[in-house]
Amino acid sequence: MLFLNEKTVKKYLTRTIVLDLVEQAFSEYAEGFVVNPVKLSLPMNPTYEGYINSMPAYLTRFGVAGMKSVSVFKDNMKDYQLPVTVGSIILNDPETGIPYSFMDGTHITALRTGASVAVMAKYLAAKGAEVVTIIGSGAQGLSSFVMIKSVLPKIKEVRVVDINPEAQERFIEEASAVFPDVDYIKLSDIQSASTGSNIIVGAATSKVPLLANIDYDDGTTVLCIEEDITNRFAGKFDHTIVDFTECFIERTNILGNEHAKETGDAYEEITEETITGEIGDIIINKISGRINEKDKILASPVGMGATDIIVADYVYKKALEASDGMVLDFLDS
Ligand SMILES: NC(=O)c1ccc[n+]([C@@H]2O[C@H](COP(=O)([O-])OP(=O)(O)OC[C@H]3O[C@@H](n4cnc5c(N)ncnc54)[C@H](O)[C@@H]3O)[C@@H](O)[C@H]2O)c1
Repeated sequence: MLFLNEKTVKKYLTRTIVLDLVEQAFSEYAEGFVVNPVKLSLPMNPTYEGYINSMPAYLTRFGVAGMKSVSVFKDNMKDYQLPVTVGSIILNDPETGIPYSFMDGTHITALRTGASVAVMAKYLAAKGAEVVTIIGSGAQGLSSFVMIKSVLPKIKEVRVVDINPEAQERFIEEASAVFPDVDYIKLSDIQSASTGSNIIVGAATSKVPLLANIDYDDGTTVLCIEEDITNRFAGKFDHTIVDFTECFIERTNILGNEHAKETGDAYEEITEETITGEIGDIIINKISGRINEKDKILASPVGMGATDIIVADYVYKKALEASDGMVLDFLDS
């Protein structure tokens, strides 16, 4: 069993590699070469403000199988100075099921989430997009911006919205180390940040929906990694694109119904009618994405295990080649 910690995983991944792998995972899925069950979520609330998801996937053409476990505990940073989103990945031999690697999935989660957002931006954003707004400037927000800028190099302004000024500062420090020639603007009001923005990324750990009541300009692409989309919100857009329809519908309705129970508000379940199509089908040219430059597009990568497993397989092979990581005894035989 090869054990790879976060430091080791970081050595083998670049933005370009992860962008390419994530795009491949989406197209493999669209072509029917991925078994990717809907993620199973273990809610810890009301005791704790968090959940732990199991995300298995099998990429049949790659001959790779495994599972990511990922926890999202929204108050971790505030209360314990620990990351909010933490993952671990097990790779299993597809022939025998025997696990052969256990690795950090925290860095992989951030990179593959950012890459999922960026692949969607690449296919869906209006031509000549130059202004991005990031709402929630934590780990996923930062990765999303850096990945978007990698696929859309014309981006010249990023508006950074967060309730925590330290998170805004950290974002600007880390993003400007990678892309110094971008204007970084700190804002607190989401409507003013959204007006004049070509791409908006919703990546905040807010307990209330932040994006639903905003007026969006024509041509805007809103990329939402949070699961608080309603029919009313989607109704503001010309197209709604997801990564994985079945999972998107299940997760959104579970959370929508839970939220409705807490608030007493009515919740209308979303159905396939809400969704225009999947990013994988756009990548393989089965359907089109943006039709007119003025279209407003909502896109939501709810997160697919296949994107984690394809990246984990790459890291495992590179670490093996370099005799890196720690070999642990596992089975007693
Ligand atoms: N779709 C996916 O594949 C996927 C994957 C991983 C995480 N996520 C989601 O991403 C979200 C962010 O995770 P993270 O690891 O970046 O967390 P993080 O704590 O690193 O960042 C979240 C940021 O949101 C900010 N925030 C909270 N409330 C806000 C508000 N009202 N307005 C503006 N900013 C606000 C926080 O201050 C923080 O800086 C999580 O809620 C998680 O569910 C989605």
